[in-house]
Amino acid sequence: MISLKNLKKNLTAFLLILTLAFVEIATNSQIAIADTATNPATAAEVFTANCAGCHINGSNIIRRGKNLKQKALKKYGMDSIANISNLVTNGKGIMPAYKNRLSEQQIIDVSAYVLSQAETDWK
Ligand code: HEC
Repeated sequence: MISLKNLKKNLTAFLLILTLAFVEIATNSQIAIADTATNPATAAEVFTANCAGCHINGSNIIRRGKNLKQKALKKYGMDSIANISNLVTNGKGIMPAYKNRLSEQQIIDVSAYVLSQAETDWK
């Protein structure tokens, strides 16, 4: 017979394992997602709503040279999802930080969107 005390102990262990497994899945999927844009439509919407004001068609209305065209992105080392995400998260100069406005996933997606748009010269 299983005593109530044992049952409680087993249940606690079970819940602990379940929590750990969940955390593991959550962190792993986050890493997996980080390499690719999951939803291009949403990324385009995020860009229109948050970035197009200064970066319409991949331009930069404030600092013209720091636009989102491939040449400029390469020149300033902004030709990776990691670096763009970092910039978008923390902001720089007049460009605002988005860490409190967009989710991590939205920032990754919009960064991937910038790179893919740059590849086709925003056309
Ligand atoms: C208020 C205007 C403004 C908004 C809104 C804005 N940016 Fe910027 N962005 C700038 C400015 C100014 C710079 C140049 C920063 C610097 O280096 O001083 C810049 C730089 C960049 C760069 C680097 C370009 C290069 O050639 O080095 C990227 C990439 C970028 N922004 C992406 C975004 C994305 C994505 C969003 C939306 C989430 C966004 N920006 C929203 C003003 C803005």
